[in-house]
Amino acid sequence: MDNATRLHYLQAMGIDVWIPKVASNAVDLPSPEADQADKSGVLIEQFVPTPNDNWETLQAEVSVCTRCALCEARTQTVFGAGNKNADWMIVGEAPGQHEDEQGLPFVGNAGLLLTEMLRAMGLNREDVFISNIVKCRPPNDRDPEPAESKSCNDYLQRQCALLKPKIILAVGRIAAQTLLKIDAPLTQLRGKVHTLNNTPVIVVYHPAYLLRTPSEKRNAWLDLQLAMQTHKT
Ligand code: URA
Repeated sequence: MDNATRLHYLQAMGIDVWIPKVASNAVDLPSPEADQADKSGVLIEQFVPTPNDNWETLQAEVSVCTRCALCEARTQTVFGAGNKNADWMIVGEAPGQHEDEQGLPFVGNAGLLLTEMLRAMGLNREDVFISNIVKCRPPNDRDPEPAESKSCNDYLQRQCALLKPKIILAVGRIAAQTLLKIDAPLTQLRGKVHTLNNTPVIVVYHPAYLLRTPSEKRNAWLDLQLAMQTHKT
């Protein structure tokens, strides 16, 4: 089932589907075919496919990136990892110390819990592609700054365009706000089906937050159930 049909069914089931309004300067729409508008004239954002792009070229570019100051302190870039034919794209915030050391996403304690969250949905890490909003570790693990996320956005968009995921899990507030270009608290973003490029986006708690706040695990499970239901639809 294509994403537009899936979204139609979700709406029919009474599940909120949120489509972000695209600011007039936010995207360069690639082609008339990509120009889609819903009945109210709200543009549906598209991933911009770069002609002749491929995973190898993209990974090579990322590995030597100097677009922002995060390159200065990194050990290496963290491109992302997993199945390049996956239905599921998992988007976190930024590499931490372990990720910076190993060049792989979500390999620390939060990563272990993410693996468990995936397992609860019947998925292995090999079934998904995992990436981050920024590909380099921010100093002292601070939040990425908007300019840093913006510098890295093209890489994430190209990853999405190459992967063509059926569903995106935005892991934590920073990933959700950056992907959806919505400045709302996580509590307002959870529990809804958002869309990006006609692709459903489910916002879930960051596993690092769940490690600090285990009482939220029940709500976290509701988010994962919504993701599973959305993927099945
Ligand atoms: N937290 C993230 O958001 N991403 C990682 O890769 C690791 C921890």
